[in-house]
Amino acid sequence: MSIGFALDHTGGGASVTPFHGETFCPLYCNTSTCVVHDGSGLKPQAEEEEGGEATPSDGGGAAAAEDDGDDAAGVAADEAKLSEIYGRLGQIGAASAEARAATILSGLGFSTEVQNGPTSALSGGWRMRVSIAGALFIEPDVLMLDEPTNHLDLEAVIWLQEYLKTYPKTLLLVSHDRQFLNEVSTDIIHFLSKKLHYYKGDYDTFVNVRTELAKNQRRAYEASAAKKAHMQEFIDKFRSNAKRASLVQSRIKALEKMEDVEDVEDEAKVTIHLPEPGPIGRPIVQIEGVTFGYDARNPLFSNVHFGVDLDSRVGIVGPNGAGKSTLLNLILDKLRPLSGEVRRNPNLRIAHFTQHAAEQFDYRLNSVDNMIKLFPGVQEQEMRKFLGRFDISGPLALRPLKFLSGGQKSRVAFAKLAWSKPHVVIMDEPTNHLDLETIEALILALQAFKGGVMIVSHDQHFINKVCSELWVVGSGEVVKYPGEFDDYKNEQIAKRKAAGASL
Ligand SMILES: Nc1ncnc2c1ncn2[C@@H]1O[C@H](COP(=O)(O)OP(=O)(O)OP(=O)(O)O)[C@@H](O)[C@H]1O
Ligand SMILES: [Mg+2]
Repeated sequence: MSIGFALDHTGGGASVTPFHGETFCPLYCNTSTCVVHDGSGLKPQAEEEEGGEATPSDGGGAAAAEDDGDDAAGVAADEAKLSEIYGRLGQIGAASAEARAATILSGLGFSTEVQNGPTSALSGGWRMRVSIAGALFIEPDVLMLDEPTNHLDLEAVIWLQEYLKTYPKTLLLVSHDRQFLNEVSTDIIHFLSKKLHYYKGDYDTFVNVRTELAKNQRRAYEASAAKKAHMQEFIDKFRSNAKRASLVQSRIKALEKMEDVEDVEDEAKVTIHLPEPGPIGRPIVQIEGVTFGYDARNPLFSNVHFGVDLDSRVGIVGPNGAGKSTLLNLILDKLRPLSGEVRRNPNLRIAHFTQHAAEQFDYRLNSVDNMIKLFPGVQEQEMRKFLGRFDISGPLALRPLKFLSGGQKSRVAFAKLAWSKPHVVIMDEPTNHLDLETIEALILALQAFKGGVMIVSHDQHFINKVCSELWVVGSGEVVKYPGEFDDYKNEQIAKRKAAGASL
């Protein structure tokens, strides 16, 4: 798996060598925790000056100042202290703190009511946003973000990447979101064979440079191998020829001296294949005047109209909680509309994939047995061959699922999805637990797929590559977006900026 870290925004091309001896004590933020260590410049004043004995709630410093109140030297000391505190407050931007906090929170999608409400009332995803907001607000010298986009909706992802683009200090980022990496990073660090490899530029540049380097290395390896083979041939041929003994000896020496050129290490290439569904009468899914709400008095959306065909490539976007998954569940017949109708061709086969798709399996069984359990009556040999198309083959296919990596489990889930030869593939945040290679493989598979595709995703690269139309869920309706994905993106950036400015 390739991991990109975005480094040093100060000079664009600065060279940062974080694993070459420097010690980091930065703010670290991952999916469950966010901790401030030394170096953030945010320790309470008293704590820094008095050997760390004071705590934020400790009133020790203030009490000492009061005792010295009527002494002239004390007054001077107080004034010096006050001016230092003001200086410090200025340094950390205390006057603009509330406005800055509001900008960050509104950018991450917090309405004014939510901003002022208790965090205990927030769901896990929203608490994650509070963590990110806290990290951004503190603005540490080194900000580390581990998969920050996982719990965000597309609108918040777009805002965050715009914000991070101009982050004035160093940022270390782990992400599988290709567009996000491209927009934010200036350097990439790639983990391969237990080594860190450094590249300048964004993720796409990294991919191009790597491909080029690999090509050159392969050429050098092949040339060296051919030369060695030629020399060996000469040696073998004339080994027992007395007249050429000295020539043979020098060739042997030359061969021994030749440096080994390593071959390119092939990373496991992921392939996903979605079979052709075959013909079916149109339209295959028709949504007519659908209104739905879990509470009938308060519908999530009303009077929705649209159709899905074999050539549909629909991307569904909208804020968290807008009703995207609900819309998919209506199409899947898991929910019934309050009014209106979802009409499906009676021969329709729909496959559903969510980020939790792998949870449907029995982790004690291997991939082949899991599939046979789901589709009884299929011969083991046939199933092994089928799983092989998803690079689940050999011993891997016979290993209990609990020992497979997240990406490998997802590939078994794709195999399950493909087995039914669906006419329509519906995916709800499919990329969250996939690595970049598997995401690319899925993109290629969906591009080649001969059926309809509906996707809810916050991965811009994924939507851009797969979808040809965008449906926006929110504000009580579902509407087809009248422009390209980039128009939508720019509109979101402008909207969040305007919302931040008006706070
Ligand atoms: N079974 C349910 N009963 C009652 N309310 C529900 C149910 N499922 C979802 N909701 C609510 O309906 C709204 C829409 O939920 P839905 O899961 O469709 O949103 P979403 O757009 O998919 O959000 P996200 O981006 O977070 O996945 C949310 O406010 C959610 O809390
Ligand atoms: Mg959802």
